[in-house]
Amino acid sequence: MERVLLTGGAGFIGSHLAERLLRGGLDVVVVDNLDPYYDVRLKRKNLMAVEDAARADGSGDYTYVDGDVTDLEGLRAIAQKHRPDIIYHEAAQAGVRASVEDPFKPNRVNVEGTLNVLVVARDTGVKRLVNASSSSVYGTVEYLPFDEHHPTKPVSPYGVSKLAAEQYCRVFCEIYGLPTISLRYFTVYGPRMRPDLAVPRFTKRLLAGQAPVIFGDGEQTRDYTYIADIVEANVALLDPQLELEGQSINVGSSSRISINQLLDVLLGLTDTEVEAVYQARAVGDARDTWAAIDEAERLIGYTPSTTLEQGLGRFLEWFRGDPEAQELTL
Ligand SMILES: NC(=O)c1ccc[n+]([C@@H]2O[C@H](COP(=O)([O-])OP(=O)(O)OC[C@H]3O[C@@H](n4cnc5c(N)ncnc54)[C@H](O)[C@@H]3O)[C@@H](O)[C@H]2O)c1
Repeated sequence: MERVLLTGGAGFIGSHLAERLLRGGLDVVVVDNLDPYYDVRLKRKNLMAVEDAARADGSGDYTYVDGDVTDLEGLRAIAQKHRPDIIYHEAAQAGVRASVEDPFKPNRVNVEGTLNVLVVARDTGVKRLVNASSSSVYGTVEYLPFDEHHPTKPVSPYGVSKLAAEQYCRVFCEIYGLPTISLRYFTVYGPRMRPDLAVPRFTKRLLAGQAPVIFGDGEQTRDYTYIADIVEANVALLDPQLELEGQSINVGSSSRISINQLLDVLLGLTDTEVEAVYQARAVGDARDTWAAIDEAERLIGYTPSTTLEQGLGRFLEWFRGDPEAQELTL
């Protein structure tokens, strides 16, 4: 597993993974179309961090390709040129609320795009494919924490698209023998995180002495997972001994907090006192997420090691030091 093709490498998770793989000495080809879902200046900054990692002693070779996963032949040409051993597929149209406004785009990017990546992986002899999936596939809660046997009944078009992508990954393993796995990430946070999510949105307002907006009563819960733990779960999948059989596994922190509690932690860390403003619950938002991670532990030795306080502390340090990221937070 020396040559990696990483889709979505200019994004939050993809750029951290690219840095880690390069520093580990692997050759990485990033494919990203710098989609303008959020400000592309943030994506360019992510790529600068990746370039820095590529310059470090002992790092692998780095190539950036401006490519679109919805372009099958373009993707095929990239894979034929670079001959990756493994594909990490992080590119997606993220965002639950965006998918409620426009359900076609997540279908094009997340479903058709993933199908394209799978076809190219199958046809170019890729040894394994790791697909970034989401806790959004669970949707309606029947019990908590979610284990992988929990029914999947997404409550947003985004969740449907991620579930369809997972199913394609499983079926490609079963019928074409392409080793695949889907990692169901649970709300990932940390430095350079997406600017449309609660942690940066709240923090931006707290630092400016403004009231953060909470959608719903704030008693909805989330399992927050620190970016470095997500990256290590992906790195574990480089182990050639692992048998990938199209499974989907949870990658979370295995604890959850309510949005009101999250705000309390951020108030403490920023040493501020501001009352939140409550607005109507957003359509498509899951009520609760909480990951059981026994399967990830058993299969890939996954044990998240960052507490919420530690992770938010690192996020805050980055956020305070990057005024442009603050300005571009939504
Ligand atoms: N951040 C989270 O909390 C979270 C939770 C669950 C799952 N995920 C999944 O993890 C992956 C990465 O998420 P993220 O938070 O880093 O999002 P992100 O938006 O920061 O990164 C996605 C990247 O994909 C690129 N992209 C979008 N459309 C593309 C296309 N057609 N062709 C090529 N590249 C394209 C974007 O430009 C972006 O750089 C996604 O698959 C997402 O669904 C994220």
